[in-house]
Amino acid sequence: MTQDELKALVGRAALDFVVPGTVVGVGTGSTVNCFIDALASIKHRIAGAVSSSVQSTLRLQSLGIKVFDANDLLSIPVYVDGADEIDHRGFMVKGGGAALTREKIVADLAERFVCIADESKLVETMGRFPVPVEVITMAAAQVARRFASAYGGVATLRAGVTTDNGNAILDVRGLSITDPLAMETEVNQWPGVVTVGVFARHRARVCLLGTAQGVRTIDFDR
Ligand code: 5RP
Repeated sequence: MTQDELKALVGRAALDFVVPGTVVGVGTGSTVNCFIDALASIKHRIAGAVSSSVQSTLRLQSLGIKVFDANDLLSIPVYVDGADEIDHRGFMVKGGGAALTREKIVADLAERFVCIADESKLVETMGRFPVPVEVITMAAAQVARRFASAYGGVATLRAGVTTDNGNAILDVRGLSITDPLAMETEVNQWPGVVTVGVFARHRARVCLLGTAQGVRTIDFDR
């Protein structure tokens, strides 16, 4: 199976986790696009969606799915999103599509994070994929220096990218993330950091992994 076929497979499989009559949390990216397309087939059975990016909002609306404002929701049962890397505890690196801040906001509303990914995303130790960090532009150089001194990481500005929130993205290479919770906690405190793309506090509870043999379900709470 091609990578696109694996993405379509897990996008459809995630429908099993949608709770009828509720608002579904929707992430961002090529795997999520497959989920959105599948969601359209059951749109009359859900109240609508809450979206993590302008890109996903436009796709949802074009398929006739109502998009709610996150401020109007107390909580949602499920958030479905992809990942750039996921480890065996459900910790993730996210933000390859620059949507990490809104992704964390919607994940924070959700009782359960369902990650959908092809098997190339499952890793022993995260950090091979450059860790995205959304920063206020005037803090970019200082945050880059902090990554170098605290973790030996090399941060570069993602050229030509402005987030949906009007900020910049730093991509940090050369990290080995052995303690995702500690890294997320520390980096979040650096002035000018809006969001670090380490999802430890908002880890996945379930991962639907596309493999050549079909969908492998990993339940991290078991
Ligand atoms: C966007 C993300 C995506 O979930 C991540 O980049 C995976 O994307 P794809 O499904 O296209 O591989 O975090 O900010």
